[in-house]
Amino acid sequence: MGFSDKVESLIGELERASAKSQDEAEQFRIKYLGSKGVFKELFNEFKQVSSEEKRQFGKQLNQLKSKAEAKVEHWKHSLKSEEKQASKIDLTRPGMLVEPGAKHPISIIKDEIIDIFHAIGFSVAEGPEIEDDWHNFSALNFPPEHPARDMQDTFFIKDPNGGEDYVLRTHTSSVQVRTMENNQPPIRIIAPGRVFRNEAVSARSHCIFHQIEGLYIDKGVTFADMKQTLEYFAKSFFGKSKIRLRPSYFPFTEPSAEMDVYWGLENELDYRITKGTGWLEVMGCGMVDPAVLDSCGIDPEVYSGFAFGMGLERSAMQRFQIPDIRMIFENDVRFLKQFQSAI
Ligand code: PHE
Repeated sequence: MGFSDKVESLIGELERASAKSQDEAEQFRIKYLGSKGVFKELFNEFKQVSSEEKRQFGKQLNQLKSKAEAKVEHWKHSLKSEEKQASKIDLTRPGMLVEPGAKHPISIIKDEIIDIFHAIGFSVAEGPEIEDDWHNFSALNFPPEHPARDMQDTFFIKDPNGGEDYVLRTHTSSVQVRTMENNQPPIRIIAPGRVFRNEAVSARSHCIFHQIEGLYIDKGVTFADMKQTLEYFAKSFFGKSKIRLRPSYFPFTEPSAEMDVYWGLENELDYRITKGTGWLEVMGCGMVDPAVLDSCGIDPEVYSGFAFGMGLERSAMQRFQIPDIRMIFENDVRFLKQFQSAI
């Protein structure tokens, strides 16, 4: 390597050099500035180069050397004060506070309901939030253009390429369909999940909310089995043992009912919750329509069953005295923190 190449590569090396500790700074000093160091060697060589090169490199070599010296000086200084700083850390100070997370009020209610049904042999099933028409409507006995579709204001997702349109599921009943399509009875599932309806947002209603669906299909399942199961639920969840079933209508159940629990009218809050009737509306339910079983590949001549579906927001609002449903979706930490103790 010629003399000029050596100077060239030295410039690069010095440029890139860095030291993270006093030790490294000292190693650098020995390597470049020590009595057998790179500069010593170069200055020895310098004596033998032509006078033209002497003129060219003399000043540069001296400048490089002072630069390297300044570097070492700088490192030793700054690293020393850093190390001093580090040794000043007060290990007796209390640690940084990491607050534990809290369970969301909807999760508290959901997990409680899952536990209640788990105890009588129901397992959890899930399905997608973006659904096709078949699983949200058609298989559930809502024929196309049927007015019952208007019972639920739907968010539609148009396929820009003219293919099949999708919907944001309007109820968790779509999971009933998926479960029956993929399993033969006995089926005992609950399906918790988010659902969506195109409704104006206010303190009382939201376009997003949560439901839990229940489905039980086997040989010889009757309306009496449904009533028993719902009584067990009312007792476990609300601590109330009186329920009533009012006739209602859903396209996918026949007969259909609304289940109310007798809440009582002991204080002002009871009047408010039950609108002065003493009864609290809890869920829709009914015997699965044979046409639905048929659509899902289950023989209605052999099997029967019941289904039910309930919203979670109202229960959470009652239990935790949440005055506005929007708070449930805003995820304001000041709100969420309050459920800490409920974990
Ligand atoms: N899917 C119905 C709703 O969202 C509730 C329901 C579920 C009714 C299952 C009967 C059986 O209103």
